[in-house]
Amino acid sequence: MQNIILLGPPGAGKGTQAARLQATRGMIQMSTGDMLREARAGGSPIGEKVKAVMDAGALVSDAIVTALIGERLDATGPQGAIFDGFPRTQAQAEALDILLAERGRVLDFVIELVVDEDELVRRIVGRFTCANCGAPYHDEFKQPAVPGVCDVCGSTEFKRRPDDNEQTVRTRMAEYRAKTAPILPYYEQRGFVRRVDGMASVDQVAAQIDEILDGAA
Ligand code: AP5
Repeated sequence: MQNIILLGPPGAGKGTQAARLQATRGMIQMSTGDMLREARAGGSPIGEKVKAVMDAGALVSDAIVTALIGERLDATGPQGAIFDGFPRTQAQAEALDILLAERGRVLDFVIELVVDEDELVRRIVGRFTCANCGAPYHDEFKQPAVPGVCDVCGSTEFKRRPDDNEQTVRTRMAEYRAKTAPILPYYEQRGFVRRVDGMASVDQVAAQIDEILDGAA
């Protein structure tokens, strides 16, 4: 049972790789972004509170996201966890140490996806998903085989995230540089950090991560 953090700016591929690891290794993807979007869609008080913050590309409060991760850890079994988009601040990193220790878990790796920011803006601004099954697509890199029809479920409805416009993406990147990248030394000091080339293809990034998890890197 391995517990890992995927760290990288918006669009680095954290969600893509976390979903793959969940499917191939039976680990559990813990995406605070997805949890917050679920809260919004469900119209819960937390969802209402975070809506404006997320749409502006700013960070939601440490207390809210830490509580969400704690609840999710308690709701899942002993499978390994992939923390996707958490922690994002020093306070969240310290809170995660406590959450793991309280549950007898240890952190194995912090995998940093090293990427080029301008390319990421292109990746994010072009992405969209099937509104029915969530299958991911991209304006430039991955259109449905039949235009306007989902390859997976046949739906003709698609959606884009409200925070996936260029201006908000730039704000999200600035938040990453100011608040998230500075937590790397906290993990480097303890020997947890491994780096992968996030600009490689999805399959190549996956292979680099698998090598780390299998102890070959
Ligand atoms: P969140 O949902 O976590 O968004 P993010 O970190 O900005 O990350 P993304 O989901 O945009 O990108 P990703 O790295 O997962 O890349 P993906 O795999 O999708 O957070 C959203 C908001 O919620 C935040 O702004 C904040 O407000 C709030 N929030 C969340 N967590 C928080 C926390 N802990 N504290 C406070 N606030 C929090 O890939 C992107 C695109 O690229 C896709 O189209 C994909 O198909 C494509 N792609 C992926 N890999 C490759 C590749 N190797 N080559 C080519 N294309 C690729």
